[in-house]
Amino acid sequence: MSILPIVTYNDSVLRQKAKSIPENSEQIQTLIDDMFETMYNGQGVGIAAPQIGESLRLFVIDADAFTAEEEDEKDCGPLTFINPVMKKLESEKIAMDEGCLSIPGIRESVTRPDKIEVTWLDRDFKEQKEVFSGWVSRVIQHEYDHIEGVLFIDYLGSFRKRLLRTKLGQVDSGEMPADYPVMPKKNVLS
Ligand code: NI
Repeated sequence: MSILPIVTYNDSVLRQKAKSIPENSEQIQTLIDDMFETMYNGQGVGIAAPQIGESLRLFVIDADAFTAEEEDEKDCGPLTFINPVMKKLESEKIAMDEGCLSIPGIRESVTRPDKIEVTWLDRDFKEQKEVFSGWVSRVIQHEYDHIEGVLFIDYLGSFRKRLLRTKLGQVDSGEMPADYPVMPKKNVLS
């Protein structure tokens, strides 16, 4: 297993709608192992394939550290989502602070629905379907956005975004310190 460098927010790969994975392979299994290792190394609770430069519909999460604190939440250790389809369910809208390994040093409040239904393939390519709420739902929604080319800062109002402009510029130029390897951007979106 290896720790892979994480691409930062202005890289165009983070803005693409990622492609489905047609079939299981040794490369996909290695990629999943590497993504877990990269996520744990960055002390993240989730990471999506575009964040390590692969435009594929794949993300991994491990929300155990958070769900363990909440008695009413079910235990949620390492999970792999391949080609997921997510539906937001009619539910309470909750505001919560989010961060992202691709945007080090920035945490902002994002409002999302509590409940989602997800259909996906696990790492054995077996189909799964489940309704999630609470912390794990939050993490899945954030990671699902990554494979759709969406970042959590997209939810912020223009005023908030303007305040963050300097910090985002620092992330972009590699001046924002991260305690894990990041990859300098390959191309710039205006
Ligand atoms: Ni993220």
